[in-house]
Amino acid sequence: MDKTKILMVCLGNICRSPLAEGVLRSKLPSDRFEVDSAGTANYHIGDAPDSRSIASGKKHGVDISMLRGRQFTAYDFSVFDFIFVMDKSNYQNIIRLAENDHDLRKISFLADALGEMKKSEVPDPYYGKEADFEKVYQLINTACDQIAQKLISNLL
Ligand code: 4NP
Repeated sequence: MDKTKILMVCLGNICRSPLAEGVLRSKLPSDRFEVDSAGTANYHIGDAPDSRSIASGKKHGVDISMLRGRQFTAYDFSVFDFIFVMDKSNYQNIIRLAENDHDLRKISFLADALGEMKKSEVPDPYYGKEADFEKVYQLINTACDQIAQKLISNLL
């Protein structure tokens, strides 16, 4: 059976989406699921994640140091089954590349999975401090718990 493919998207692909990629991957069986991430911008192609994101993952047992930045392309709509964006600008940037409703239906906001903590966005921590990265980790981890449960039970 084909693996279910999930893509995490942010702006730079060095702070939020690589962390979301590592966290979600750690919660899913690798024989059934593939997780990747991409940025809408081209600033950090080939770059390692931000050191503060690497540190925040490491603190919680998720190693993302080997990931490298890449840019989202329209082709990603044909590869991935589920695409999670971190904020409204990511959403606006990728809907412009969608070719049809089938592409559009693949997109959702990661923060929609936050249940009671529900927020609309995972805020950009790039100009923030370590505490902002910890908040981002907590949002991502809680959302990914919900998403992983649903994916595993075929409820998404
Ligand atoms: P990310 O954060 O979208 O979570 O990876 C950012 C990373 C880099 C920049 C902005 C946001 N930047 O302007 O270079």
